[in-house]
Amino acid sequence: MRISDSKLIGEITALGVEHKADVSLAEKTSLGIGGTSDLLIVRRHETLPELVRLLKQAGVTHRFLGGGSNVLLPDGELPWVILQLARQEPDVRFEGNSVWVDCAVDLGRTVTTCAKHDLGGMEGLIGVPGTVGGALRMNAGAYGTQIGTFVREVRVYRAATGRIETLTGPEINFEYRHTSFAPDDIMLAVRLELPSKPYSEILQGIRICNEKRRASQPLNQKSAGCIFKNPPGGSAGRMIDELGLKGHSVGDARVSDCHANFFVNAGHASAADMLELIADVRRRVRERYGVELEEEVIVWKQS
Ligand code: EPU
Repeated sequence: MRISDSKLIGEITALGVEHKADVSLAEKTSLGIGGTSDLLIVRRHETLPELVRLLKQAGVTHRFLGGGSNVLLPDGELPWVILQLARQEPDVRFEGNSVWVDCAVDLGRTVTTCAKHDLGGMEGLIGVPGTVGGALRMNAGAYGTQIGTFVREVRVYRAATGRIETLTGPEINFEYRHTSFAPDDIMLAVRLELPSKPYSEILQGIRICNEKRRASQPLNQKSAGCIFKNPPGGSAGRMIDELGLKGHSVGDARVSDCHANFFVNAGHASAADMLELIADVRRRVRERYGVELEEEVIVWKQS
């Protein structure tokens, strides 16, 4: 969506929010898929309530984009303007075994920063792409570790109330790749509590996870990680592999040859290609196994 009202643009920029017109969002996602829209970069969290109020008042719909690593955006001109948080400086603050982290920070960088302070536990999350906020939203996990385990407080902009609120750990439900945050909540900062561990030991854990990931996932290709959640007690990747679907493609959207639950953009895949591939694979799994796979990647629907 384009913001054409110059008065609105003036009010937005007066808040310290940067307005970028007609941005290619494919470049903002790890899949390299997505159309265009205006992008609003929020530098100060405190301005969010007023920004959203201004947009609402002007009838401008918006969506919030984090690191873009677990999302499939539509093709063409998007019907929303896109909000993104700028990284805060300083973005990490330690208090004993607790650390406040800005949600716009890269998750992997957070894991290593904490390691340097002899705080571990998150080694398994090292190769998970995206921001801390994105990891929180999905309760990102890998190699037996889920971020939710360490969450003690989250500062969040709640669209429902139009205010910035602080939620404590017990107020948030963390399940397998699902949390109780509302879809339009915007995570701003989080306090994690991490176990003390010597730096060298954490580094060793990080190295092992990195090796496992390199051996089993197509890290050098454009993807959004796993496309489907694992069904209870099962493995989406194994089922798709058993169906002989590695390399199966629609246009440039392709089931990875390396890990069958990763669908890669092998060139210039469109969202339509990727959605068709997802639907096709889901149908084949349903027909063979009687299992209805649920998307793990967040699909932005045009409704
Ligand atoms: N498998 C196959 N063929 C494949 C892929 C996997 O036979 O093409 C088999 C493996 O041999 C293994 C089983 O399926 O026996 C499970 O595979 P893997 O260990 O790779 O883990 P996964 O269940 O496919 C999950 C997470 C990943 C996470 C890894 C490592 C989900 C949907 N996926 O994958 O998370 O990195 O474990 O902990 O929960 C993501 O969320 O985007 C993601 C990639």
